Amino acid sequence: MLTSLAWSLGLGLALEVSCAPSVPQALRRQSANNFTSYTIPPLESSSSSSVRASAIKVKADTFLYGPSIAGNTSFWPTGSLGNSTVNADFAALSTDTPIDVPNVEADAAVVTSTIAAAGGLKQLSDYNLLYKDQWKKSLPDGVDVGVLTNYTNDLFFSMERLSVNPFSIKRLDASATLPFQVDNGITTNITGTTVSGLLKSGNLFYVDHRDQATLESTGRFAAYCDAYFYIHPTSGDFLPLAIRTNTGSNLIYTPADTANDWLLAKMMFNLNDFWHSQWYHLSATHNVLEIIWEAAYRTLSDEHPVMALLKRYVVSIRIFGYRVSAITDLINTGGFIDQSFAFTGAAAGVSTTKFYQSGEAGNFQSNYFYRNLQNRGLYNNTFGPKIKSFPFLEDASVIHTSIQSVMTTFVDSYYTSPSSFQQDSELQAWIAEAKPAQIMDFPTSVDRQTLIDILTQFAYLGSAAHQTLNTNDLAEIKGTLPFHPASLYSAVPETKGVTDLMPFLPPANASVQQLILLGLFARPTFVNSNVSLSQMFNDTTMLGKMPTKIADASATFEKEMLAQSKVVAARSFDKDGLSQGMPFIWRTLDPQRAPYYLTV
Ligand SMILES: *[C@@H]1O[C@H](CO)[C@@H](O)[C@H](O)[C@H]1NC(C)=O
Ligand SMILES: *[C@@H]1O[C@H](CO)[C@@H](O)[C@H](O)[C@H]1NC(C)=O
Ligand SMILES: *[C@@H]1O[C@H](CO)[C@@H](O)[C@H](O)[C@H]1NC(C)=O
Ligand SMILES: *[C@@H]1O[C@H](CO)[C@@H](O)[C@H](O)[C@H]1NC(C)=O
Ligand SMILES: *[C@@H]1O[C@H](CO)[C@@H](O)[C@H](O)[C@H]1NC(C)=O
Ligand SMILES: *[C@@H]1O[C@H](CO)[C@@H](O)[C@H](O)[C@H]1NC(C)=O
Ligand SMILES: *[C@@H]1O[C@H](CO)[C@@H](O)[C@H](O)[C@H]1NC(C)=O
Ligand SMILES: *[C@@H]1O[C@H](CO)[C@@H](O)[C@H](O)[C@H]1NC(C)=O
Ligand SMILES: *[C@@H]1O[C@H](CO)[C@@H](O)[C@H](O)[C@H]1NC(C)=O
Ligand SMILES: [Fe+2]
Repeated sequence: MLTSLAWSLGLGLALEVSCAPSVPQALRRQSANNFTSYTIPPLESSSSSSVRASAIKVKADTFLYGPSIAGNTSFWPTGSLGNSTVNADFAALSTDTPIDVPNVEADAAVVTSTIAAAGGLKQLSDYNLLYKDQWKKSLPDGVDVGVLTNYTNDLFFSMERLSVNPFSIKRLDASATLPFQVDNGITTNITGTTVSGLLKSGNLFYVDHRDQATLESTGRFAAYCDAYFYIHPTSGDFLPLAIRTNTGSNLIYTPADTANDWLLAKMMFNLNDFWHSQWYHLSATHNVLEIIWEAAYRTLSDEHPVMALLKRYVVSIRIFGYRVSAITDLINTGGFIDQSFAFTGAAAGVSTTKFYQSGEAGNFQSNYFYRNLQNRGLYNNTFGPKIKSFPFLEDASVIHTSIQSVMTTFVDSYYTSPSSFQQDSELQAWIAEAKPAQIMDFPTSVDRQTLIDILTQFAYLGSAAHQTLNTNDLAEIKGTLPFHPASLYSAVPETKGVTDLMPFLPPANASVQQLILLGLFARPTFVNSNVSLSQMFNDTTMLGKMPTKIADASATFEKEMLAQSKVVAARSFDKDGLSQGMPFIWRTLDPQRAPYYLTV
């Protein structure tokens, strides 16, 4: 019964991988144990040098760069070792950290019968049926507090831009041409000044999803929104000003519209922003880390401490399994994306490619944590007021700082003089390898700070950045209904004055299907486990082959992350009903809830 429900929903147990060949363990997993400490390469004259060099050559000869899959982004491994690594990762994905299909199915059966018993979803408030006492097994801690009660609050919508998906918004520079006009009278009523006034004072922010107009449609509906947000000149609150649909009669909505019209506009924007967040995530975290790893693997010995560190994030995460599962179950024809979204799985590949190749997601150095925010006028801006409350910066910076501190100890432990970077031929080869690997915007030379930065960004992308965009955040807030529909079910209105939002929103079966997909990413077993972010460096085998200072730094990291976990877990609403300035309690970057690595 449960299974047949899942089939009828099109779930089809799709993520239970059945087609992966059984392959011998990849070389990288066998090699680890017959040396007692990681070392930077010996001088070329020493006898062990040639042994080490020939082991690297075996890897470089058999782990090759092949054509990209799941979009045209970074090279995908090929060659005998490349292929066996991909196959082993894909096979391991289903056994290492299994996605909880049975629990999600069982939960879906319960919610389906609950909705049926209630007579279906007939009005907006009925979407609460999707959550009240539901998803007990797959999302035991429920959705974020405030999600069900406060989503119509404008601050909920605007503050999602500074937390749930902080990668689509930018501050407009005073010299920018206004992307669109909003009636001066309306704008002045809302903000106390005009759009130009907001622009000139550095208070105007913009998100642009117009490019989604060119994506292949599933036949369901979507607008292609661009939108203004602003810092209120007197309250300092970060709020929404206007949403333009860029389709049909190209309506521009504002908070001055009727409650229904404005809510629909925000939902149409959310649809586009959710799409952005997911393909940006694939591109900016998975695809970037994959190619850096590939280049490292072909140039660094398995005895190199940097290789050991990268393996901590990469081997345990089966990094080359995800793109295969994406083309098998997610973006394939008839897959999860086709089933729920307004744009097809093929369109997902198009968006991923665009984010990667434009550099928006694919560039390495310009997307360093602070630089990425600074480039978009969100951090250390010299122009316009500081953002009063920036939850993503607040939470991610704590993690970033602690990672950076471990990486500093790590680099200083192995590289004791400025010349030691130059003398490490493997490290030099890795940096040079960026060219044939076509790693975009990778450093072209390496010193102490460069290496600390590379390693910090690698770990940050795989942990805090990935978690913000994906994993349990999807089910907890990013894709919650009715505020975040993956598709519209009626065409975008040509005129204002919509009286009933229900025809636009996913019907019951489609809502359950959307939540099934999110539920598969929820991973409740990761919470407080040995894969939680606080455990990032806590690998006794790895640490045992490194100087004790690094183990000490790892213990400090864990202590800092456990303290931060307490901070996040203790969050509640203040007297205004806000947490971090938001009408919901955001738990995503709790280091005991987030995993330390990329996952689904
Ligand atoms: C590791 O052990 C294998 C076989 O046991 C041997 O062939 C290889 O040379 C050893 N590697 C090193 C670096 O000692
Ligand atoms: C992928 O992108 C690269 C770089 O822009 C281009 O050279 C190549 O032809 C593209 N491959 C495909 C299959 O479109
Ligand atoms: C690796 O896999 C690719 C794609 O399936 C295939 O074309 C290639 O021949 C394989 N290479 C080896 C050495 O097995
Ligand atoms: C501005 O607000 C006032 C008072 O609510 C209202 O009468 C007026 O029509 C509004 N102006 C515009 C252009 O919406
Ligand atoms: C941000 O600005 C402050 C103050 O000007 C400065 O101390 C800090 O180094 C800057 N941070 C970054 C990451 O650039
Ligand atoms: C939901 O039901 C409608 C009408 O029966 C059907 O056309 C649609 O395919 C179903 N959607 C899903 C996601 O199962
Ligand atoms: C976590 O612990 C489980 C056993 O509880 C073990 O099988 C697994 O390998 C560990 N994972 C990591 C990454 O340490
Ligand atoms: C590291 O992991 C082990 C095993 O999972 C655990 O017992 C220990 O508390 C963790 N932390 C430290 C600092 O060792
Ligand atoms: C948000 O919802 C909670 C109840 O879940 C409530 O206590 C709080 O006041 C709400 N905040 C706002 C701003 O409405
Ligand atoms: Fe992911």
